[in-house]
Amino acid sequence: MSIYQQEHKITKTERAKLLRQKPVIIWFTGLSGSGKSTLAGMLEEALYADGYKTYLLDGDNVRFGLNKDLGFSEADRKENIRRVAEVAKLMMDAGLIVITAFISPYREDRDLVRKMVQPGEFVEVFVNTPLDVCEQRDPKGLYKKVRAGELQQFTGIDSPYEEPLQPELNIQTMNQTPVESVKQILEYLEVKGEG
Ligand code: ADX
Repeated sequence: MSIYQQEHKITKTERAKLLRQKPVIIWFTGLSGSGKSTLAGMLEEALYADGYKTYLLDGDNVRFGLNKDLGFSEADRKENIRRVAEVAKLMMDAGLIVITAFISPYREDRDLVRKMVQPGEFVEVFVNTPLDVCEQRDPKGLYKKVRAGELQQFTGIDSPYEEPLQPELNIQTMNQTPVESVKQILEYLEVKGEG
C-alpha cells in the first residue's frame, strides 16, 4: 500500500488541554431495550451541564446515515462497530468525551475498540438488563414483532449477545433508577483536565 500516515503538530494532548478535559470513549453495550440510549443521553446531559464537550453516537441514529447500508447479519454488525469505533476514535482525538450506544453484541469487536486506544481511554459500560425485562419494556415494540415472526436475527432471541467479562462498569438497571445509574457512571469517570 502506498499510503503513509502524517504526523501533525497539534495532538490530542494539545486539544484536550485547550478543552480542559480528558478525552475518553464511554462505550455502552447491552440488549435492545436495555436502556443504553436513555442512560447515554442522561450522561451526556449531566456532562454538558458541567461544561464538558461531548458527542453521543447512537445506533438508532448512525444507522440512518453513515451506516444505512448495513443490516443485522454478523458481518454487518461487525462492520457497524468497526466504523463507529473509527469515528469515535477520531472524535476522541479531537478532544471530545465520546459516548456510544450500540448493542455491540460481539466481545471480540468491543475488545478491538479497546485495543485501538490507550489504556484508560475506553470505558465499557455494560447495561445489564435481563432479556425478559427488555422484552417486557419493549419500548419500540420490536420484541412483539420478533414473536410475531416479523423480525429475524434479533439480538438475544435468534442472534447472540456476548456479555462483557470485565466491563469497567456493570449497571444493574433492575436494582436502581436511571438517575442512580448515571451517578454510578459519573463517580467512576475521571474526565477533569489539568489547569
Ligand atoms: S448492533 O448489533 O449492530 O450493535 P445497533 O445498536 O447498531 O446494533 O442497532 C440496534 C437497534 O436496531 C436496536 O435498538 C433496534 O431498535 C434496531 N433493530 C432492528 N433490527 C434489529 C435486530 N435484528 N437485532 C437487534 N436490533 C435491531
